[in-house]
This record gives sequence, structure tokens and C-alpha cells, in this order.
Amino acid sequence: MSTHHLDWTHAFTARLQGLCVEQSSFAARAGEAARRLKEESEANLLPYLSMPFAEELERDLPQVLEGIRACKHMILLGIGGSALGARALQKAFSPAQDRPGHTGPWLWIADNIDAGSLTAWMAALEAKDTAVVVISKSGGTIETMAQYFLVRRWLQERLGPAWKKHVVLITDAASGKLRAEAVQEGLPSLPVPDNLGGRYSVLSAVGLLPAAFLGMDWKGLLRGAAAVAAPLIDSAFSASSLARHPAWHLAVWNRELMERGYDELIFFSYIPLWNYFGAWFSQLWAESLGKEGRGSMPLPAVGVTDQHSVNQMFLDGPRNKGCLFLTCDGLDKGPAFGKDVPAHWNWLADKRFGDLLLAEGLGTRMALCENKVPLVGIAMHKADEEAAGRLMGLCMSVTILTGWLLDINPIDQPAVELGKRLANARLGAPGLTDEHRSLNAFLAVDGKDIQEF
Ligand code: PA5
Repeated sequence: MSTHHLDWTHAFTARLQGLCVEQSSFAARAGEAARRLKEESEANLLPYLSMPFAEELERDLPQVLEGIRACKHMILLGIGGSALGARALQKAFSPAQDRPGHTGPWLWIADNIDAGSLTAWMAALEAKDTAVVVISKSGGTIETMAQYFLVRRWLQERLGPAWKKHVVLITDAASGKLRAEAVQEGLPSLPVPDNLGGRYSVLSAVGLLPAAFLGMDWKGLLRGAAAVAAPLIDSAFSASSLARHPAWHLAVWNRELMERGYDELIFFSYIPLWNYFGAWFSQLWAESLGKEGRGSMPLPAVGVTDQHSVNQMFLDGPRNKGCLFLTCDGLDKGPAFGKDVPAHWNWLADKRFGDLLLAEGLGTRMALCENKVPLVGIAMHKADEEAAGRLMGLCMSVTILTGWLLDINPIDQPAVELGKRLANARLGAPGLTDEHRSLNAFLAVDGKDIQEF
């Protein structure tokens, strides 16, 4: 079929047997959700759907890119939503860096506290050939800021005052320490638009500056996402149009899954180069929906690799998993087998390498269905940037709508703040008296019951 489409044939099975989207009690909330979409988009609370920043971005991003055009390397300092989208796009559309003979550009994503990698980059890269892009919406994320302080010193020591031409800051337009740094040092910067939290920001400068640096069709990404998400916030939008929108169908289906004890959601990608979309989706889904004891745990998996890994658990482990199954019928199939294949394998002789992927995808999908895993197929007709934008727009829309159906806030992530505050307290940050006290209490008993191995 020459369209991107969802395949619902095997979605309502096992404990969802006999149900369909229209008959779900959650579908009755379409009117309420449509009203909320309208109100929140008018208040600019849904920029990941309406993308009001797109015009400004299309104007400003090329200028910033021009400033670092001579650089062969980009080091991206960021974490969570400030890094995962860029990595998914890099792996999908700029795979050359992982292959022999690559001559650049190179993107190095520093989204962990790995002293070895950071040291290696600073030892091996020429500062004059390197752009450092620091991405933090809040400007207060310790992992990102700490790396910035070290890399800034490295640039300054090697380049002197010219270090400023090698840094781009992507942060809130007005607030935060990183914005203050941009202003104080006169550094090139791009905004993370208002109300665009990290995990919803891939299609802003956060994901698109690295994408553009690598030569991707970044405007195609925007076009694709807009095609899926923009109708949701159209002024003529109504409950009945929402009831037809694929994002709503997926939200209702997911809500039903959770209601019936399916507390894990497999994101199985049979587009090999899109394997990191699983990590991107997992953060989006988990950080948005894991609240108040609700949500479902995302399980990213990649075909065919994970057929030989976690698939046994998907098929015959606890019956608590739904599955989104991503395929594309338009991938390059690569070389053909010939008559030289040994006799035992001669049925391969008239096939191409990519035929294995299609056949194994079919086999796995069918096995999941036969094992009664409720499954929605996400069939992409192409795997270009516009298609990726569509998928990302769809995933973000579904996440928001599912959050609303769960009656939780899909935008915040309050539970992860505690660990951050405790780590800051441990490092001596001021003003964290309660955290200091509870750290001491914890450390007083920690390590009292240990067993060597
Ligand atoms: O999705 C989110 O909001 C988070 O994962 C953030 O992206 C992450 O914590 C990094 O935050 P910041 O961009 O403020 O440095």
C-alpha cells in the first residue's frame, strides 16, 4: 500500500477481544479532548503540535549553521530530551559515521557522565574543527553544564577569544543560566520555544541544528510532523474529526490496554536504521505517562536483532504487553543472492538481502499475533525525513492524548527531581537542607547488609 498507515487488524485480541476504538468507554471523551486541544493550542500550550516556532527557526537556523560551517565535528552536550531525538535522527539519516570510509561531518553526542569519552574527544579532536552545541531547556541540568564547563575551558585554551565562534547554546529564550551565559558572552544561540519540554523538542533547534549539520532534510521533518499534528489544532477541529484521527485511535487503544492490565508497550522497529527511535519513544512515553501509579513501560526493540534476544519474553512471557510494530516496505533491499549460494540454501538464490527483513518482520509480527499480543502495525511507505517527522508527530500526539485519558499531566516529570536534588546536595550545592538530612539518614544504614560475589 503506497501510504503510511496503521494496521488495526490484530489490535483487539486477548483481553481486548470484542472491543474496537469506537466502542471503548474512553472514546466517549473525544469531545472533552477536542475542546482541550482547542483551548490549549490557543494558549500556545501545545507547540509540539502547532509548531508556531517553525517560521523563525527556518529563518535563524541557517544563519547559525553558517557560523559553524567550517567545522567538521560537532560535540552535542545535552541529556534526555535534549539528546535522544538528535541521536535517533543521526542513526537514521546519517549512518555513515558508523561505517568505513567516512569523511565527515561527525556528530558526537555527550549525554552521559563518561569521563573516558569526554577526555577522548578533547584529546583527539582539533578545537578549530569542532563546534560545541550545548542544549538545555532549563539551563540548569548538572550533567550538561558540567560538561560545558570542561569543554569551554578546552576551547578557550586552544582558540583564545575565537572560542566563542565554536559554541552554540540552545536554551530557553529568556530564562536560565545558559541564556545568561549566551547574553553575557555574546554567544550564538537558538531558543527552545516556550512550553516545549525536552522530550517534545526534537523538531525545534534541539534536534534540527544537529540534523542540519549532518546534512539532513530537516525541513522535511517539520513538514512530516505538521501533516500529522496540525489537524489536531485546526480551528475547525471537532470531536468527530478527533474521533477519526489515528493519534486518538492509538491513545484510546493504549488506554484500554492499560485498563486491562497490559502495563508494557513494545516499540518494535523493523526499520533497522530507525532503531534509536525506540530510545527516543521510550523517554517520551515513560517520562510523560509514568505518573501516580499509572502508565505502561515502553520496551524498545529492533528487528531482526531482538528476535535473537528479548523476543522470547514478548512471545511467551507474562501476558502484559501490547505492541507497536514499525515496518517500511520502501527500504533498499541491497544485493541479490546468486547461483553461488550453497545447495542447502538455494531457495535464497532469487532473493535479495532485504527480502529477509520483510520475511522476518512478517514472521515475528504473525508470531506475536498468534501469541495474542495486541498489536498495531505502523507501516511506513518510505523511510525518509518527512516520514520520520510523521512518525514523531504521531508519537507525540498519542502521548499527549493518552496522558489526558489517564488524567495525568503528560508534560511534567516531578518524580525525577528528587534524585537530581539529592545528587546536587551530595556535591555540596547550597540550600538543600532537607536533602542533606535525608542523605545522611540514608547513608547511615546504606551498605549494612552486603554480600560479596
Ligand atoms: O524531557 C524532558 O523534559 C527531560 O528529559 C529533559 O530533556 C532533560 O532532563 C534535560 O533537561 P534540560 O533540557 O533542561 O537540560
